[in-house]
Amino acid sequence: MVVEVASNSPALPVSETETLIHPRWVRVTHWVNALAVLMMIGSGWQIYDASPLFRVIEFPRQIALGDWLAGALLWHFAAMWLLVINGAVYVALGIATGRFRRKLFPIRRREVLADFAAALHGKLSHDDLTVYNAVQKLLYVGVLLAGVVIVASGLSIWKPVQFKYLTALFGGYDAARYVHFFAMSSIVAFLTIHVVLALVVPKSLRAMIVGR
Ligand code: HEM
Repeated sequence: MVVEVASNSPALPVSETETLIHPRWVRVTHWVNALAVLMMIGSGWQIYDASPLFRVIEFPRQIALGDWLAGALLWHFAAMWLLVINGAVYVALGIATGRFRRKLFPIRRREVLADFAAALHGKLSHDDLTVYNAVQKLLYVGVLLAGVVIVASGLSIWKPVQFKYLTALFGGYDAARYVHFFAMSSIVAFLTIHVVLALVVPKSLRAMIVGR
């Protein structure tokens, strides 16, 4: 039998081999999300290059997706549906199953600082993969919020007439473009750290693939 362990329920009689760390819905939505995010970022870079916000920032064509502006827009709008629908399923199940409450909260400042210091000294334990450390919790909640901001600012620049109040909330069309860009940058920064850590602790990668 396979049981998803609630990290705050030490009484559960589950042996190590039976412990399900990531249920199937988490793994499926995680990898679909990773694919959608990569497509959004790659095509977003190509779209950005057609009308850059910063003179010093231009993305090389080799790492952008879509070949030209119209091609990139097609990729961006196709991946957008995948990202939003898959993200909505993940968030709905995360709330409904209590996973977010169990695994991502509470986040205490003292624990974040202590875990951050331990990570810098290479002393952060990865023995128990069923529990996220405080830095991980902060990063995961942070990237979920960045996801909300990037979708909202994206809607503002995609349909500024239909979503005029949303666009106004960001301070107008031009400001929404900057917000969209900085949200992308924070997701890319998260991804860089996230992927490096997944490679440093390969058993966490295995758990996100096979569940255990
Ligand atoms: C493409 C390469 C990626 C790799 C190799 C990867 C790897 C992983 C691994 C190994 C875990 C489990 C961490 C652990 O148990 O300690 C994880 C969890 C997570 N990843 Fe990723 N990831 C990738 C992309 C992404 C992207 C693009 C996002 C979001 C923008 C993301 C957001 C998350 C979140 C929120 C969790 C926690 C999920 C939960 O427990 O509900 N990942 N990832």
